[in-house]
Parts: sequence; structure tokens; C-alpha cells
Amino acid sequence: MLQKKIFSIAASLLVTINPFLGQAQPAPILRVNVAQPIADIQPTMWGVFFEDINFGADGGIYAEMVKNRSFEFFKPLMGWKVEGSKRTEGDILVQNRQDKQTSNPRYVRITANNASQGGLSLTNEGFRGMGIKSGLRYDFSVLCRVQSGNAKLHVDLLNAKDEVIGSGILTPEQTDKGWHKQQVSFKSTAGEQKGKLRVWFEGTGVVDLDMISLFPEDTWKGRPGGMRADMIQMLADMKPGFVRFPGGCIVEGYDLDQRYQWKKTLGPAEDRQLIINRWNFEFGHRPAPDYFQTFGLGFLEYFQLCEDIGAEPLPILNCGMACQFNTAELVPMDQLDPYVQDAVDLIEFANGDVSTKWGKVRADLGHPKPFNLKFLGVGNENWGPQYIERLAVFQKVIKDKYPAMRLVCSSGTDPNGERFDFLNGKLRDMKADLIDEHYYRRPEWFLQNASRYDSYPRKGSKVFAGEWAAQSDKTVSVDNKNNWQCALSEAAFMTGLERNAAVVNMASYAPLFAHADGWQWTPDLIWVDNLRVYGTPNYYVQKLYSINKGTNVLNLTQENSPLAGQDSLYASAAWDKATNEVILKVANVSNKAQVRIIQLDGVKKLAANGKLTLLKNNVLDAVNSFENATNVSPVEQQIAVDVKKKALSLTLAPRSFSVVRVKVLP
Ligand code: AHR
Repeated sequence: MLQKKIFSIAASLLVTINPFLGQAQPAPILRVNVAQPIADIQPTMWGVFFEDINFGADGGIYAEMVKNRSFEFFKPLMGWKVEGSKRTEGDILVQNRQDKQTSNPRYVRITANNASQGGLSLTNEGFRGMGIKSGLRYDFSVLCRVQSGNAKLHVDLLNAKDEVIGSGILTPEQTDKGWHKQQVSFKSTAGEQKGKLRVWFEGTGVVDLDMISLFPEDTWKGRPGGMRADMIQMLADMKPGFVRFPGGCIVEGYDLDQRYQWKKTLGPAEDRQLIINRWNFEFGHRPAPDYFQTFGLGFLEYFQLCEDIGAEPLPILNCGMACQFNTAELVPMDQLDPYVQDAVDLIEFANGDVSTKWGKVRADLGHPKPFNLKFLGVGNENWGPQYIERLAVFQKVIKDKYPAMRLVCSSGTDPNGERFDFLNGKLRDMKADLIDEHYYRRPEWFLQNASRYDSYPRKGSKVFAGEWAAQSDKTVSVDNKNNWQCALSEAAFMTGLERNAAVVNMASYAPLFAHADGWQWTPDLIWVDNLRVYGTPNYYVQKLYSINKGTNVLNLTQENSPLAGQDSLYASAAWDKATNEVILKVANVSNKAQVRIIQLDGVKKLAANGKLTLLKNNVLDAVNSFENATNVSPVEQQIAVDVKKKALSLTLAPRSFSVVRVKVLP
């Protein structure tokens, strides 16, 4: 009776004009029960998935500008152009000290014989060019060892026409230390999108060079040898609840030799043994023969990144299985121990105090404070009984030692089918903490699955929606676009994730980054070249969810049902106890404007104005680009609240995603 009365008052006072019929129509009501939140939203709800794919790390967030700096690619001089060698002025020869230095055996020996400008030189092409900013300081460094003489290094930045736009001089010192690092810094005089680095030699002498490196001054937090600040800022702006790293299939490796091994990613950069990146050769249609993992960014740096941006670290480790799309190699069960030990040691590395073996390693690397790791993934897209068998060993050992550690477990590659059903059943029987679901599907799938989690059990294992993205064409198609249709379908789907935060504790779009000249997989959340970065419409959807996360789910209904596709509308509501705000998210995937009255039940008083953040575009194919980076991007406006009726009228633009925040007053 009371409900009926509220409805009739609201309907009579908040009548709107139907824009198409031109008549006064009572707009349908969305009721939000503010008084009784139905579930907690975990602080980890919206996060990011990072993998070194599409030049995500090397050539991406790792700000190193020199490709193949240690001459360890299959072809030792790949990325380098040698000029003037084997002439009277001297020679440049690749040396290999495999017996002495297994992690970084190669270097180059320069023999300069009265060399001068225009003679003996090495030029590096960078990662599809080097992005150079005018007036910025660049830090060149090299490991060197003088054999004889006193040849000098001239370090020049070149523009696309090979004109010098910055230079420094370095004279390798003859010391009894042998190999040692030297550096020189200088400023560029002009900007260039496709720059190069040329090192030319002057004078006479024999000098050995390795780890020829160039970093810009403006790295994230100004850390020498650090990350690209513009890319990391995009992540920081999202305020992600977690960062999953280092992948992805890269964790599994093409074969077990090429799996990701975190212990090999610590310490001096020159001791981190490079391996081929599996995305180098994964797709015949997008080959990247110059794609390797230098591990210049290693686990310490990933943990540090998480700390910097206030995200929970979520490392994923190999479970004793190589990628099942590739070799599908298995570690025999009686040889699994080192893999399990890697996981146990990682927890100690992250959390142990400095008196522990691995806690001390962390402290010696400059981070005595523990990282407070709470989540750990075992296996990426692994499946079958072989996975369950191996996972059970990890689970037992880790839980015995660290009962509070929450383990993320794989449900394979797809969100349905035999493989999924088998794993989902087994994992729930095993009381898995979090089940990692992946869905690379068409936009229609995302709309049809907005209620996917409504029927999931509220008790038992939680879901980590660990990798997903709407595919405008199909998975691994080069034609997939980060268009508005895909982003809007994701926004609609995510209302279902939020509504079911009791079940879904973590979610991340994948992949995260792509280099416009070096990608293998599309779509991707953020696109970069060597100087620029832009967020896709999908990025703005993810960001809007993340920065408007709230702390509790509120029940939102239209005619007593969740709004999950009726009239092509999808909605969810959250409460933010930190700010006392109701947060409403509504996706209108139809091509017509629609009006809804939002009735906030159970509140005493509301602020007179709320904030509406609107993401919209009439064109489903609309995309962002370097030239038009904010084509589809959020716009904010004030929205009036009817404080008397504790309601507001929301006009949902065609093909739009709206986020509304309304403050509840005491
Ligand atoms: O995100 C790209 C790839 O998709 C990941 O590496 C893998 O886990 C999935 O198949």
C-alpha cells in the first residue's frame, strides 16, 4: 500500500515528456533501497591486468629506449646498424663469454684506429623508433671495459633525417675494475617521433661495450631506469584495486624453459637473463621478431608499482604447465617442488621480515618494508585434470604455511563448455578462493550475460573476472576495434558484476597496453606510441567504474526486478560509505533517449544537486585515436535532485553510459 502511494506521488510529480511521442508519460521508476545494502564491494573489485604483450613492458612501460641493449637477441646485432666496421678505421665484433657470464654472455668489442666522425659507429633504431622530447634530459649509460688506448664515445640523438638533436661524449676509463658502468647525460634540442641513437667512436683504442642504454629523465617518479610516466599515470588515474602481473600466457611460456621465473627478474639489470617473448612468434599474421623479455622490469618493480598506485599486487605464477595452446609441456608430479617453492618463496619475498631469507633479498634490493601480498595466482589459462592435480599441491603447501593467502585458480580459456564446467566444479569442491574466468566474446555476449552472476552461489568460491574484452570481430582477429559498441556492452555487463559483488570480488579488462607499431593482439585498453598515449572508450568505462566503486551494493529494481536488459537498459547501484553517496550506473544501449525516475528509498535527506558523468556517442563504430584522444570520453554535469520526493529524473541519452552520484545528508 505504502509502496503504491510512493509510486503514485513520484509518478505524478516527476512526469516527463516522452521525446518521441511528445506526450506526458509517467516515466518508469528505478527504486534504490539505500537503507539496506545487500553486499560489500571489495576494494579489489576493479583492477588492471598487465602482460608484456603488444610491447607492453619492453618498448612500453619500461622506459628503456635502446632495443637489444645487451646483444642477446637471437641475432646479436638486431636493432643495430654497424657502420665503418672492417675498414681502416676499425672494427665492431660481437664477443661471447658464455662460460663466464651465462645470463648475459654477449658484448661488442670496438677496435678504433684513428677513427673520426662519419667513420666507425653503432646506431640503434629503438622500439620502432625512439620518441624524443625537445629540451628533455636523456641519460646514456654503458658497461665498458678498456682493453687499450683511449677511444672516445660520441653519443648522438638523431631525428628521422639523421640530423643530430642532442649529444654527449663519454670516455671509457681504464681501471683495474674491468667492466664498469659509465654514463653521460645531455639534453635534446628538438622533438622526434622516430628518433635513433648513434654511438660513434673517435681516436684509437680497443674497448668492450655492453648494456648500451638510454632513458629519458621524465620517468615515473623520476626513478632512474624506470617506467614511462605517461603510461603509468593512465593506470594511476584509474585508481585500480589491484594489478595482475606478469600475464597472461607469458606466465606459462611457449615451453617450460620460456616460462616466467620471477627469481630471474631481480637485481642488476645486466644479470637478468633475457628470453624470447612468446608473442614474438605466436601469431604468424603479426610477427614480432624483435620482441624479447629483458626483465628490466622485474617483480620488485611490479610490486613497487602496485605500492605507488595503491593497488593490491596479484602475481600469477606458473603451475608446472606450459601454454596448452603451444607445447603443453607438463612438469612431472615428482618434479613439481621447485615450482611450489617459487610460490612459497615469493610470499616470503613480498611479506617476510628482513630476518627471513627472501625478506632480506627484498631489503637488500632497497625495499625493507613488506608489500603485504594477499593474493597469488597459480596458473594462467591452464585446464584439465593435470591442472587440478598440480594446483592441489600448491594449495596444500601454501595454505599450510600461509592460510590467509587467497589463491586465484584458473577456469581455463572460456566461460562455458566442458572444460569450464569440469574446472568450475572441481575448483568449487576444492574450496578455491577465487576462480579466474576469461571471456573474449562479441558485444552481444556481454549484453546477454549481464545476469550471468545473478544465479551464482553466494557461498563458497568467489569469482575473479580476470581477462575479458568485447571483440568487435572475433578473438585474435586483427580487425577487432576498441569501439564504442564494445565499450558500451562492457559497461552494461559490468552492472551485473557490480550487482553481484557478493560473488565477483575482482575484475580486469585485458590486455592493458598496445603499441601502435608493435601490437600482436587487439582490442586493448590503452594505446601508445613512443611519445603519446590515449585511452580507448573501454578505458573510460573501466575508469568510471573504478573511481566510482563505492563500498556496498544497493538493491536497484524496476518493477521488482534487476534492470538487466529491459528496454535495452542495464543498471546497478552502490553506496559509498566514505562519502555518504549513492552511486548509480546506467547503460542505455538503445538508440533512443529514455527517462527513468530514480527513487532513493530509505534516506532522510538528500543534497539538492548530484553529479552526472556521461559517456556517450551516437556512432557505435566511434573510436579514440592519437589525433582525437577524447572523442569518446566522459563529460560531467550537475543534476538536480528533488529533495522533497528523494528522487531524480534521469534522461538517458541514446547509446550512453551514465554515472550519477548523489549525496545523502544526515
Ligand atoms: O590477453 C591476451 C591473452 O589472452 C593472455 O595472455 C591469455 O591469458 C589469454 O588467452
